[in-house]
Amino acid sequence: MAKKVILDVDPGIDDAMVLCLALFDPAIEVIAVTSTGGNVTPQVASRNLHAIIEYLDPPRLPRIGFGTEPDDGLPVDGRYVHGIDGLGGTDLPSAALLTQHPAEKVICDAVRSAPDEVTIITLAPLTNLARAFQRDPELPQLINQVVIMGGNLDVSGNITPAAEFNMYCDPIAARQVFQSPCTKTLIPLDVTNRITLTLGHLDQLPAESTKIGHFLRSILKPAFRAYRQRFGLEGIHIHDMITYMAAIHPELFTTKEVAGNVETIGELTRGMTVFDRRRVPEWQSNMEVAYFIEKEEVIQKTLEGLHYAAGCE
Ligand code: RIB
Ligand code: CA
Repeated sequence: MAKKVILDVDPGIDDAMVLCLALFDPAIEVIAVTSTGGNVTPQVASRNLHAIIEYLDPPRLPRIGFGTEPDDGLPVDGRYVHGIDGLGGTDLPSAALLTQHPAEKVICDAVRSAPDEVTIITLAPLTNLARAFQRDPELPQLINQVVIMGGNLDVSGNITPAAEFNMYCDPIAARQVFQSPCTKTLIPLDVTNRITLTLGHLDQLPAESTKIGHFLRSILKPAFRAYRQRFGLEGIHIHDMITYMAAIHPELFTTKEVAGNVETIGELTRGMTVFDRRRVPEWQSNMEVAYFIEKEEVIQKTLEGLHYAAGCE
């Protein structure tokens, strides 16, 4: 039976790439997609999510929920990579916004519709999931697992020297999720930085003549330019796609049990993920963290999934 999945996104170029694959993936049933601020404002994220789903027109429409700013506001955005519109300036026709159902309500309804069956894949700041837990305190025990893109174990941050972007944007929400009793797997920069999508991979995407092939090129080419200009890299990271692959193909990743938490107030360390690796740890283990990835297989599965999706047009 297809795995029931909720995607939480801040589209965002790598989020959009996941939507192109996931919404057509026969291995899963995307029962809900929720948007939040991060790479862009919550309003732009909501508009992008709706426009992407309208453009892709998947065989099964998920429920859609829209998030709002974290209580303490959003400290930063990812426009330097994702562009002002969050999609590299791609001029997707903006669809008339549906009634904006709150993301936390959609998450709670979707999990309660299938207790113990749902995998939540978070590819954005954790504002929506933390709010869902506040709305329904029993929710963590009703979720099959949460797979989280975020944090850093033994590598530097990407938005500050200490912190990864999703953790940095809403560290209070991240701490609440880390401390919740649901089954969690963290996919940190240590693993998501290990794959660089190159121009050679661009040539292996579905043909430009397909809707998905055209859309992917239109969002990825500006990201390549941004990475070259800002980081001097000849390629881009696809953090969210790697996290999606970890949820759907866990056999391609190696994880270990850790006790993790998130710094919420440090002037230099806000959003830093901290793990108790003392010889005699005192913190309670609360998640699995990925530390190894079968890179070539993940890239192969990504290209296969995108070609399958393009063939569904
Ligand atoms: O640090 C990478 C994460 O921040 C990804 O989810 C990317 O989309 C941005 O949200
Ligand atoms: Ca994201």
